[in-house]
Amino acid sequence: MALRLGDTAPNFTAETTEGKIDFHQWLGSGWGILFSHPKDYTPVCTTELGAVAKMKNEFDKRNTKVIAVSVDALDSHHGWVCDINETQNTKMNFPIIADPDRNVANLYDMIHPKADDTFTVRSVFVIGPDKKIKLTLTYPASTGRNFPELLRVIDSLQLTAKFKVATPANWQDGEDCIISTAVKDDDIPASFPKGHRRIKPYLRYTPQPNK
Ligand code: BEZ
Repeated sequence: MALRLGDTAPNFTAETTEGKIDFHQWLGSGWGILFSHPKDYTPVCTTELGAVAKMKNEFDKRNTKVIAVSVDALDSHHGWVCDINETQNTKMNFPIIADPDRNVANLYDMIHPKADDTFTVRSVFVIGPDKKIKLTLTYPASTGRNFPELLRVIDSLQLTAKFKVATPANWQDGEDCIISTAVKDDDIPASFPKGHRRIKPYLRYTPQPNK
């Protein structure tokens, strides 16, 4: 069955371009992103991995580790990393899991047979410090993902894990947030001392609490 939000991210051991890992141990106590690639030496995947390598400091700032998976073997990954570095003008700085037996792909239901019965789709799993799945995304092989959107989601996930707020459409870090409907009007001043705007009983905004 497909993994759902709130499920525990399945653990596994695997060879990666940075050595053998136990996934949960590798995640440690922070956040993590596991994202799949249909195949090595493919154009869209090459640009995606280069893009993430260039943004790695942004994930680090958010205490979020990134790891990719592709169903090819380690030798192939090592050769591909040279191409990624060369063509994307970067240096790969996070691991790629070798998954030739499709263990990880199957655990995370990354192969969608009606799209392609051999290769994975472009899946993303954001995993919290409690090892629970906080976000899933599924893109087709032909569409590269928008990685700034993942940073935006992580900002929202980390904020809403800490404060009784939600984030509105197209929210960016630093913008006003929506006060959780579970917070009573009378309790808002104590919980949100920066002030609030009440548009409707269910729509109340406050400045971002941790800024
Ligand atoms: C790509 O990464 O370019 C790609 C991979 C598999 C199918 C289609 C495109």
